Amino acid sequence: MDKPFAPAAQRNAGPIFDCLKELIDSDDRRLLEIGSGTGQHGSYFAKEFKQLTWIFSDLEQNHQAIKAWIEDAGIDNYEGPLKYESGVDAFPARKIDIVYTANTFHIMSWKKVKTLIKAIGKELREGSRVFIYGPFNYNGQFTSESNKEFDQMLRERDPNSGIRGFEEVKKQMEDKGFRLLKDYEMPANNRLLAFLKI
Ligand SMILES: C[S@@+](CC[C@H](N)C(=O)[O-])C[C@H]1O[C@@H](n2cnc3c(N)ncnc32)[C@H](O)[C@@H]1O
Repeated sequence: MDKPFAPAAQRNAGPIFDCLKELIDSDDRRLLEIGSGTGQHGSYFAKEFKQLTWIFSDLEQNHQAIKAWIEDAGIDNYEGPLKYESGVDAFPARKIDIVYTANTFHIMSWKKVKTLIKAIGKELREGSRVFIYGPFNYNGQFTSESNKEFDQMLRERDPNSGIRGFEEVKKQMEDKGFRLLKDYEMPANNRLLAFLKI
């Protein structure tokens, strides 16, 4: 099949990889990706982190694309794609060292974000980490004019979507037993938030 291609995922994979190199340890084994999308990130990162089993997940409608990217990447250190939509499906995997998710918190409703964080908090044990990439607001403010326009576009398309507040996400994570490890500034007004389960 002609694989769906997300230009943004191509652009941000390098900068995200630089952060993941700092954050992923040699003894980490199982990483669950929520909202794998086209599968571009996972098929690129799984190649780089050979000690990991990269577990793809997303809504069923994206599975064909993810499978095509996996096949073309020629990786074998993966599982899935698993069917997972926060708010609909049960949390899809066990014994996870890391949860990684990119550009999903502004797509799903805030209720589904909270459901996801609750499930992650229940599933992950002490020492596990969660990496969340995407745009975030700080102190209720957009960090750029382009993020403000992006948020407007998102809300017109789906009133339940929209750029989330850093403080609100951090609070939800802390309530479920996580501590913020690092808040990376990323290109194009994005952030990568790294949390540790304590
Ligand atoms: C903007 S795409 C990001 C895809 C990919 N992670 C990337 O950065 O290129 C958002 C993804 O979130 C998924 N998604 C939407 N709602 C979701 C939910 N409730 N639970 C899990 N994934 C969801 C979509 O199917 C889509 O693949």
